[in-house]
Amino acid sequence: MTNNNWQLQPYLEERTGLIESALDQYLPAVDTLPSSLHAAMRYSVFAGGKRIRPILMLAACEAVGGDLNCVLPAACALEMIHSYSLIHDDLPSMDDDDFRRGQPTNHKVYGEATAILAGDGLLTEAFILLSNPEVWDDTSVIHCREVIHLLAKNAGSRGMVGGQAVDMESEEKTVDLPTLEYIHTHKTGALILAAVEIGAILGGASSIQRRALCRYGEAAGLAFQVADDILDIIADQSELGKDVGSDLQRGKATYPALLGINGARQRARELQRIALSSLDVFDETARPLKEIANYIVDRSF
Ligand code: IPE
Ligand code: IPE
Ligand code: MG
Ligand code: MG
Ligand code: MG
Repeated sequence: MTNNNWQLQPYLEERTGLIESALDQYLPAVDTLPSSLHAAMRYSVFAGGKRIRPILMLAACEAVGGDLNCVLPAACALEMIHSYSLIHDDLPSMDDDDFRRGQPTNHKVYGEATAILAGDGLLTEAFILLSNPEVWDDTSVIHCREVIHLLAKNAGSRGMVGGQAVDMESEEKTVDLPTLEYIHTHKTGALILAAVEIGAILGGASSIQRRALCRYGEAAGLAFQVADDILDIIADQSELGKDVGSDLQRGKATYPALLGINGARQRARELQRIALSSLDVFDETARPLKEIANYIVDRSF
């Protein structure tokens, strides 16, 4: 499978196809009442995200030799939660952004009330999916409770939602580095870590493998948000598919604001090295995880 000709782009495309067809199967159809709400939920999920979190979950499972079919429902549940977090993140009361995934944001198309409900619907749908006995087979069902608990914890007020709360409270303030790291490891790192850890659990990782993958997930998760902060300054809106410059406009606590672009890039490189070195215990099966860590950081240079 992995060799010198191995390339990230076709791998990402193949995995994206797998995840999107499973998402299409799991999400309520548009003709399920209320149609407008289900259309709004599907609008944001299928607007064209990179699918990094579900791809990481599959890649972690693959690194420990697990069966990808066992992780697809959890991978889709995680992408639903991520999509909900983006809909709410873009609301006028939060970041007030107009573009996301190359399209107008959910509230711009469906109005604020429906956007809030579409987010609520996606969050709940993730747990409807994972609490459905039909998605668990005889091998994976022993991990069901742990996976649901981990996902809920990393998505909630001690995870992503907590990071979002401190992000909002910190607007127009100068925060110190530990606070900034708290924001980033929670608002973004928590779901990325959950992706990798759930992939490890469902793939049947040993405790050494699981620890290594968690270290990878923590470093890659923080690196992802450091890179996102840099991209908000240097990227082109049409390439990025979302508003640029909005962090500066809203006085957000970001790595470039605190350390400058070069300092933020240096931190991203450090985290990339930690992520890569965490994978030393694996052989070529961790090649996708390595290349994804490189991709996460390289896109901000
Ligand atoms: C955007 O995440 C929000 C952050 C946590 C930085 P992504 O950059 O993964 O967005 P999509 O899913 O590709 O649209
Ligand atoms: C968002 O961070 C993190 C979550 C949505 C949980 P940002 O606010 O920086 O994400 P973007 O830049 O809008 O995608
Ligand atoms: Mg935000
Ligand atoms: Mg935002
Ligand atoms: Mg951002």
